[in-house]
Amino acid sequence: MKPGMSLRKHYLQFKDFRAEEYAYLFERAATIKKRFKNYEKYTPLVDRTLAMIFEKASTRTRVSFEAGMYQMGGSVVNLTTGDSQLGRAEPIEDSARVISRMVDLVMIRTYEQTKLDAFAANSRVPVINGLTNEYHPCQILADVFTYIEHRGDIRGKVVAWVGDGNNMANTWLQAADILGFTLHVSTPGGYEIDAKVAGVSNTDCVRVFKNPLDACRHAHLVTTDVWTSMGYEAENETRRLAFADWCVDADMMAAAQPDALFMHCLPAHRGEEVEAAVIDGPQSVVWDEAENRMHVQKALMEYLLLGRIG
Ligand code: CP
Ligand code: NVA
Repeated sequence: MKPGMSLRKHYLQFKDFRAEEYAYLFERAATIKKRFKNYEKYTPLVDRTLAMIFEKASTRTRVSFEAGMYQMGGSVVNLTTGDSQLGRAEPIEDSARVISRMVDLVMIRTYEQTKLDAFAANSRVPVINGLTNEYHPCQILADVFTYIEHRGDIRGKVVAWVGDGNNMANTWLQAADILGFTLHVSTPGGYEIDAKVAGVSNTDCVRVFKNPLDACRHAHLVTTDVWTSMGYEAENETRRLAFADWCVDADMMAAAQPDALFMHCLPAHRGEEVEAAVIDGPQSVVWDEAENRMHVQKALMEYLLLGRIG
């Protein structure tokens, strides 16, 4: 940490920020994106370094954080379990103490949220959740921003979640609670969202459906994710059977609002959680959604390091 730097707000779960902070971040992301599209140089993070720690695989998170940080004038250090002492059982607390003395910001993708929390508790600099077993806040930040870009305010709208009650589902639920929309959830039996993990006390923002088609009725946005998340590969075959009816298809999209959007955090498996005709069809905004990871995360990094601009 550099002298004089005392900001230390972490982004570990979606519920770490208030609605009013999200309103600021979405506006800021739009400004940053517009400048980027106009080839305007914007380098407020010169001399700042982001450390990225990946204990699980990534394409979008790696590229979006790395490209975003360089575009803003900063630098990036990339660590994985295999090429660092993390893979040789150095305590996460010690790693946090050391790494955070040398960099200004840390992004971590790992397994248990408790590991991320332990790192943050021992870090001198802000820590960002780049995905844990429990949450994926940067993705939902991009997803809501993408919705707003295409359709405007998400307040009062209906988002349908079809599939696993996983890290994405938990984070959608937190977003519904904070941003004031309703989440329709349909998961196979045994794969429901765990309300305790999601950590949402307001049950008014969620409706649970047995049948995924019913969850999609009148939805403004239909979204899904892989049947088997990273770290759960041993359950692959059991999940394949359990999730067979939780494939977003043309009938589900037809039950939604006529102008409903389709989103998927990617990577996707066509023919499993989504039909090719849907993800590659006219209602799908998955490529904007993926690109927007970079723009919202640039706004997030700027916010964590410099506070509000303007
Ligand atoms: N959506 C997402 O986080 O993608 P990656 O796993 O490729 O980072
Ligand atoms: N739920 C998925 C998201 C991947 C971006 C996983 O955790 O593997």
